[in-house]
Amino acid sequence: MQYGYFDDDQREYVVTQPDTPLPWMNYLGTEDHFGMISNTAGGCSFYRDARLRRLTRYRHNGAPFDLGGRYLYLRDDTDGDYWSPSWQPTRGPLDAYECRHGLSYTSISSEHGGVRAEMLYFVPLGETLEVWRLRVRNDRDTRADLSVFSLVEFCLWDALDDSTNFQRNFSVGEVEIVDGVIYHKSEYRERRNHFAYFACSEPLAGFDTQRDVFLGPNRGWDSPLAVERGCSFDSVAHGWAPIGSHHIRLSLAPSETRDVVFILGYSENPTDAKFDPPGTQTINKARVRPVIERWLATEEVERAFGALHDSWEELLSVLRVETPDPDTDRMVNIWNPYQCMATFNLSRSMSFYESGIGRGMGFRDSSQDILGFVGMVPARARQRILDLAATQLPSGGAYHQYQPLTKRGNDAIGSGFNDDPLWLVLAVSAYMKESGDTGVLDELVPYDNSSGSEAPLSEHLHRCIRYTLDRLGPHGLPLIGRADWNDCLNLNCFSESSGESFQTTENREGGVAESLFIAAQFVLASHELAGVARLRGDGDEASSLEAAACKMVVAIEEHGWDGEWFLRAYDSLGGVVGSHSNAEGQIFAEPQGMCVMAGIGVSDGKAAAALASVRDRLATEHGIMLVQPPFSRYHLELGEISTYPPGYKENGGVFCQVNPWIMIAETILGDGEAAFDYYKRTNPSARAPISDVHRCEPYVYAQMIAGRDAASFGEAKNSWLTGSASWHLTAISQWILGVRPELDGLRIDPVLPPTWPGFTARRRWRGATYEIVVHQEQGAKGRVRRLVVDGMSVEGNLVRPAPAGSTVKVEATLESAPPSR
Ligand code: GLC
Ligand code: GLC
Repeated sequence: MQYGYFDDDQREYVVTQPDTPLPWMNYLGTEDHFGMISNTAGGCSFYRDARLRRLTRYRHNGAPFDLGGRYLYLRDDTDGDYWSPSWQPTRGPLDAYECRHGLSYTSISSEHGGVRAEMLYFVPLGETLEVWRLRVRNDRDTRADLSVFSLVEFCLWDALDDSTNFQRNFSVGEVEIVDGVIYHKSEYRERRNHFAYFACSEPLAGFDTQRDVFLGPNRGWDSPLAVERGCSFDSVAHGWAPIGSHHIRLSLAPSETRDVVFILGYSENPTDAKFDPPGTQTINKARVRPVIERWLATEEVERAFGALHDSWEELLSVLRVETPDPDTDRMVNIWNPYQCMATFNLSRSMSFYESGIGRGMGFRDSSQDILGFVGMVPARARQRILDLAATQLPSGGAYHQYQPLTKRGNDAIGSGFNDDPLWLVLAVSAYMKESGDTGVLDELVPYDNSSGSEAPLSEHLHRCIRYTLDRLGPHGLPLIGRADWNDCLNLNCFSESSGESFQTTENREGGVAESLFIAAQFVLASHELAGVARLRGDGDEASSLEAAACKMVVAIEEHGWDGEWFLRAYDSLGGVVGSHSNAEGQIFAEPQGMCVMAGIGVSDGKAAAALASVRDRLATEHGIMLVQPPFSRYHLELGEISTYPPGYKENGGVFCQVNPWIMIAETILGDGEAAFDYYKRTNPSARAPISDVHRCEPYVYAQMIAGRDAASFGEAKNSWLTGSASWHLTAISQWILGVRPELDGLRIDPVLPPTWPGFTARRRWRGATYEIVVHQEQGAKGRVRRLVVDGMSVEGNLVRPAPAGSTVKVEATLESAPPSR
């Protein structure tokens, strides 16, 4: 069952019915101002920080789902019939409905009673406002006399406070209505310098700003009294819940089309120029007035929409592929990089599953997001790296999260997730491979944002590595701390009180639990950093990193191999986790992927055995599960992982982010068939035909798909903001298709399914364009044996960087060789 289709030419997903299994979301905004928008116009907006600067309210977990949004009501003023052109919130019948989710815009169109309405929503580049363009057409053969009511519900800025502190908030709401513009100014009189505004290009017949007046007594969003009676109340909010609603009247001749523009924006004033006239409590509108004027002009909207389109054209031109598989092309060329941009911008802050309150920018998450995103906007990736590094602690450890508005580490969550610092190393090396920018290592960055503590980024990275080495456990393996990549493996927590955090409660003295995952990640990160050191001519540093990696490999081989796969951890009592000797949780996917990615066991058969075990024990038609068998009861010594019912989340769900590690591992062993087979199992586009099972958006990855032990096996959850995005893009583009930036060149190392005759790719890299044609002998499990660069035969499979501006033609031929496993 499908609820829409892909329009690849327009780069849109077209939703053809409003009642999708779950709200299918998109995002507006690319830099500072963001919105989340569903296929029925639900969602909210915020400036930079989903918690601290929330403009509008959205009710996560309401019933029905997805209330609070960018709504319009249309009303036929001759008979009083009214409807929402985006279906919500009236949910009445529509004669036609279509939602087009595109790249940073959404348009929703519908027909009802001979009136066609199309709403286009986007944030113009560089602005802190969103534009809504309503285009109404009268398809009747008589004149249509219509009313339009707009609607947003303002959030009182701090979303956590807004949803909890009612004793205060019911009394602080304030607005101004001037020249038809509704200004939301709660708390502006005192310590806030910012306000929101909601404007409309048409003269108003009326307005409302007090929610409960607009709705009328005992009514909901589906039947506001103002709309029903066809006339606003001109209410002025004082406390309670401020809203913005314009009322305009349109009289359209048969076939007439009219555009109306609404803008919803955010503005700040300098502290000493907040009020006008000075001494009053009235917002100084000198800065914002011209902005409003400019954006209410339809030509400006048209131009800005074109510019947004062009910017995506440019971003997506970094990599274009044409393969025999349409699901691959669609994800690689459009949706996967698009999702990477969203995760880069928003980390895990605001989605249908993330309230925007609990989590800021994750150190681990944001570092990984760079992997997929870096090619599109290297300069922004560079800045992010420096921001992340500035929250690092002098010990080399890292705050687990930081708040995007302040860029300060979050004390409530603190530090001690011992994998965190190593992700920074991987992010920096990915950035350097992409950009060739070695200067970044010399950038002076403080620790914990405190001035005076500045040190070159290279020193920060050095401390990332030291952090692990300073924290080795009884087997010479890294201590896990609060958790490693698997947030729910809390081996030092032992929580018996409900409500305690599994991540921050540490009640075990000593905390000697060790992580095989971090061990492997350390090996990978050390190799990467050694490469960087060598590039800088620092042979000593490189050798010492390699030596540390070798030592860790020895510890892994000695204490981390279970016979058929890699162990997961040692718990704080010295017991094994992820071993055939455990009754539950015998095999985990993460160490199998990470060890092979770090090259461990590749030459002695351990890697092949580990991946065979993954195939036998963890792989399902819906992807690779994280652990098997899942935990059927609470294990005090393991923590949160065992709190999830079997088959969900970390307890045996298909944790999508880990799947690409296994794909990459398969390519390292040369098995393109296995790698691509796994790739297709989690590819959202390939899963579109089973949307009634998958239920999430078919154009983006989800964090998790319920595993075999769950009642809803195959059902996805937590879509959009997940490390799955950047890792899937990395796996398919750099390892399966094998176009891989390295420090000294572009590696061309495809590992393809044997049935593919080849593919073509266009890669922009360090300013030059590489036009790549790959041929594969039919049925060969081939690797590159012949490489021709601009007509010249080249040894090996590395293409050296070409001057910026040049176009390089690369032809690679894959031929079979003796099997590597
Ligand atoms: C979530 C977190 C991520 C973590 C993963 C596994 O996706 O955002 O940081 O690694 O869960 O627990
Ligand atoms: C990660 C995990 C989730 C866990 C959370 C704790 O996001 O995916 O299962 O509850 O971390 O912070």
